Amino acid sequence: MIFVTGGTGLLGAHLLFDLVSQNKKVRALKRESSNIDIVKKVFGYYSHDSTLFDNIEWVEGNTLDIVSLDQALQAVKTVYHCAAVVSFNPKERDEMMKINIEGTANVVNACLHAGVEKMCHVSSTAAIGKKQGGELISEETEWDNKKSSYYSKSKYWSEQEVWRGKEEGLNIVVVNPSIIIGPGKWGRSSTNVFTEVWKGLKYYTLGVNAFVDVKDVSKCMLQLMDSKTNNEQYLLVSENLSFKDLFIQIALALGKNVPFIRANALLTGIAWRANKLTSYLGMRIILTNETAQSSQSISRYSNDKIKKELGIDFIPIEKSIRETAILFLQQFSS
Ligand SMILES: NC(=O)c1ccc[n+]([C@@H]2O[C@H](COP(=O)([O-])OP(=O)(O)OC[C@H]3O[C@@H](n4cnc5c(N)ncnc54)[C@H](OP(=O)(O)O)[C@@H]3O)[C@@H](O)[C@H]2O)c1
Repeated sequence: MIFVTGGTGLLGAHLLFDLVSQNKKVRALKRESSNIDIVKKVFGYYSHDSTLFDNIEWVEGNTLDIVSLDQALQAVKTVYHCAAVVSFNPKERDEMMKINIEGTANVVNACLHAGVEKMCHVSSTAAIGKKQGGELISEETEWDNKKSSYYSKSKYWSEQEVWRGKEEGLNIVVVNPSIIIGPGKWGRSSTNVFTEVWKGLKYYTLGVNAFVDVKDVSKCMLQLMDSKTNNEQYLLVSENLSFKDLFIQIALALGKNVPFIRANALLTGIAWRANKLTSYLGMRIILTNETAQSSQSISRYSNDKIKKELGIDFIPIEKSIRETAILFLQQFSS
């Protein structure tokens, strides 16, 4: 039996689809408030076989509820831990830190307690260090607490709980995906970039980051879990791209005007402060000090290690964007 946390999220839903498509026995955690219809919808993007979704055994619980995890892990051999809060909103900061760090510690402890054979933890490039001047960042690049966002801190410290689990005898594999492109609940996590461009984003920055297709993240996780590899971590990266190129490609794929105003550091600095002000009036937070800084920074990541391990050819981001945009338009252009 395989256990998956975060199955109702962007990555988790794709992972569940791949697992049940391979006829694996899967149990998935959902919260009382979770909406599993989104998982059904994601399955519908890839298959008309409705029995695939019915093959998931859903259990109710929470990564902050130790008893629910102990129950869910009965007879489980392998665990994929995808559940986390992905947010740069200061109002969600405390909840995010708790769920990401304490929730992961609970999953690790429950795995040790249940004698789980291997756990795959979904970390992030946010839990890896940065390098000046666009030099390639690898799995070895040291993380710097002082220069990191709260999301980054939450992912770094949750990853440390997994390495602590390894010291206590758990076999682990850690993946550090870059920004994930794919269809899910629109407006949540990284699908938000499609929603914002759809609404008519006018600004771009020259910051650079790395991107990966959600299908490739799931594929790498499955292959690493099926392999003999233990106690290693891998950056998952298809391409390094500027936000300018990313936004332009998304705008073209959605049939929208391309962003045409360059937002330099001064402008993003003013914008996040203005957005903070309007958020007090009840408006949605889309830009914060942390997202403003990251939109300007140049961070290029290496995929050498995972390519050497799995020999994978990553889906080009232009293709991921095109395919995701088609599914977005199916929902919003009618
Ligand atoms: N998206 C990216 O660009 C990206 C990049 C790198 C790494 N990652 C990592 O990839 C993982 C998945 O991200 P995602 O984009 O798929 O996020 P997502 O779409 O926001 O999904 C988050 C999932 O976590 C679940 N969850 C949150 N708190 C929970 C709790 N206390 N107990 C149980 N489940 C809980 C959510 O359940 P509900 O449906 O009940 O809310 C949902 O299933 C995360 O670890 C994230 O840090 C994401």
